[in-house]
Amino acid sequence: MKNPTLQLPTNIQVPQFGFGTYGLRDGTKAILHALKTGYRHLDTADNYGSHENCAEAIEKSGIDRKEIFITTKLDGSTVSKDKVGPAIDRFLKELKTDFIDLVLIHWPSRSVPTTETLTAMEAARQAGKVRAIGVSNFSVAQMKEALATVFPVSNNQIPYNLQHRPDDIVEFCFANNVTVTAYSPVKAQGDAKTRQLLDELAKKYNCTKEEIMLAWLMEKAMIVIPRSSNPKHIETNFHSLEIGLSAEDVKALDQAT
Ligand SMILES: NC(=O)c1ccc[n+]([C@@H]2O[C@H](COP(=O)([O-])OP(=O)(O)OC[C@H]3O[C@@H](n4cnc5c(N)ncnc54)[C@H](OP(=O)(O)O)[C@@H]3O)[C@@H](O)[C@H]2O)c1
Repeated sequence: MKNPTLQLPTNIQVPQFGFGTYGLRDGTKAILHALKTGYRHLDTADNYGSHENCAEAIEKSGIDRKEIFITTKLDGSTVSKDKVGPAIDRFLKELKTDFIDLVLIHWPSRSVPTTETLTAMEAARQAGKVRAIGVSNFSVAQMKEALATVFPVSNNQIPYNLQHRPDDIVEFCFANNVTVTAYSPVKAQGDAKTRQLLDELAKKYNCTKEEIMLAWLMEKAMIVIPRSSNPKHIETNFHSLEIGLSAEDVKALDQAT
């Protein structure tokens, strides 16, 4: 099965298809199944409590750590300059690794300036503990603030699906060489008309509606991180990489409201 990568500004390749690890039932088992299915990108966060599950699943899979891309996130309690370094050191221990591929600021902070957090994250990047840095849930205005720093902010992870489409943020990120990760990619299917279109396309491409939603997001050059605890869903979601939606069908989904 093909597994394309996108390039982060710092020349790092990120697998476009990832696995979400928030709120999994039996996390280690689900992550191990995803790795066995071919997923090579795990999306975790300090407040998901799934670092240890990722470490255990990677160990059990026997796959070389370097072949797996790990994204994790700093929550609001660890974004001040004195907390970032110790948090990243703890993540390394929990993930049983000596580097993290991508660390994000989970949410914009009301009390700590973005530049302060990014300065400390960049120090971890310079020290080789982190390969790339980015943000999550940042609006266009907040992205402007992040990009005004000299640091290589390479990703913004935002909610994006058929029902919720913050295109202004996506356009701004792409125009500024920032990759976009769509979270909650299959959670919402849009209105009745959109759901009918999804049904028709699933029939046409002989696949699930979720595969259509994921294939659509990847056609739009986003990274996707669907989450599932169900082995069958883990497999069929990954199969969306094989679906080549026609330009006409991508346009129909773009125009569906
Ligand atoms: N940065 C942030 O603030 C943020 C916020 C939210 C999420 N995230 C990340 O994004 C990941 C994904 O987002 P999400 O978990 O909110 O939503 P999601 O992946 O869009 O949807 C997950 C739900 O969809 C179901 N599902 C998945 N594949 C399916 C399929 N093929 N058929 C039927 N149902 C299917 C899952 O149930 P089953 O388990 O039964 O398959 C689960 O209930 C998270 O796990 C997390 O890593 C980040």
